[in-house]
Amino acid sequence: MKTVLVTGGAGYIGSHTVLQLLEQNFSVVVLDNLVNASAESLRRVENITGKSVTFVQGDIRDTTVLDSVFSKHSIDAVIHFAGLKAVGESVEKPLEYYENNVYGTLTLCKAMRQHGVKNLVFSSSATVYGDPVSLPLHEKMATGQPTNPYGMSKLMVEHMLTDLHKSDDSWNIVLLRYFNPVGAHHSGQIGEDPNGIPNNLMPYISQVATGKLAQLSVFGDDYDTPDGTGVRDYIHVVDLANGHLKALDRLALNMGLDVYNLGTGQGYSVLEMIKAFEDASGQTINYKIAPRRSGDVAACYADPTLAAKELNWNAVKTLEDMCKDVWHWQSNNPMGYNG
Ligand code: NAD
Ligand code: UD1
Repeated sequence: MKTVLVTGGAGYIGSHTVLQLLEQNFSVVVLDNLVNASAESLRRVENITGKSVTFVQGDIRDTTVLDSVFSKHSIDAVIHFAGLKAVGESVEKPLEYYENNVYGTLTLCKAMRQHGVKNLVFSSSATVYGDPVSLPLHEKMATGQPTNPYGMSKLMVEHMLTDLHKSDDSWNIVLLRYFNPVGAHHSGQIGEDPNGIPNNLMPYISQVATGKLAQLSVFGDDYDTPDGTGVRDYIHVVDLANGHLKALDRLALNMGLDVYNLGTGQGYSVLEMIKAFEDASGQTINYKIAPRRSGDVAACYADPTLAAKELNWNAVKTLEDMCKDVWHWQSNNPMGYNG
């Protein structure tokens, strides 16, 4: 694999992955419509690495743009991050979510087939397991019933790609089920820059720390967990990005279709996250206990042993690294990329 097309490469996980691809001397073409990103992330990636990225501002649903990208560049593999990801918004705008995430992936795959590019890494999510039947979650478990259109769109794409591979086994596809990505590159130059008020815990905590938000609401303290608050498997985005490079190695072996959890295997509660962030940042996080958020599960964490065995991948960064790196990014860039 020499040249990689990264859809959604200007986004949070995409930019960290592009950085590692450049460090490993891949040629990188990014296709991103910037609906939830800024091209500034890629400029910073270029500054950090001293290498350049080919950036195409365009949409994965646009067949003309796709045709031009695949005609101009000799693409060996595609890492497909592009999509919409806000759970609450997906409930209000299901058609937009299915169109972007499902139709977008379908259009991308048709263009890949047309140009004979059959190596794909797809960003899936632990949300496809639905409400966990037992923990930790491993890949052999049946997928569940996602409670929102975002989660359903990920499950639909997993099914679509599985059928595609069944119909033509010259495709090599790796489905990566992410747990809870957090953290930022240690340079403090790139990180997560959500639009508006964050939905996810870590960006919310860090914006309370900078004073941008007044108080964190802890959604529920009466779950069946050690301290009553929700438990999740937080994974450093740099470890997660590295999993994509390992997935490219896997594609090169022509293994067909594989599914891997990318998580640490370790769950932390909301209160543990607050404490870890306070310790790493020296800031006090103002919080209150609030009612449960609808659709939340008590606990969710991965069994990451398959990825360790077959991808030769392990998460190596600690909770302290995650919190320190988020704080470094957030305190240097309190207004994100537009600061
Ligand atoms: P992100 O929003 O930062 O990145 C997605 C990128 O895709 C953005 O840069 C956006 O501008 C672009 N994009 C969206 N629709 C597009 C389209 N139609 N055409 C071209 N570009 C488009 O999100 P992220 O956190 O980096 O997530 C990347 C992928 O990982 C997504 O598919 C997401 O669903 C998945 N994922 C994320 C998480 C998470 O917690 N961040 C968890 C599980 C799975
Ligand atoms: C959420 C999505 C999931 C998606 C993932 C992306 C829901 C129901 N699930 O996962 O589909 O793949 O984001 O990262 O939205 N919390 C608070 N206060 C807050 C925010 C969160 O207490 O302001 C708690 C939650 O109740 C949960 C934990 O923090 O226990 C983590 O929440 P979050 O970061 O939103 O991730 P998930 O809910 O795991």
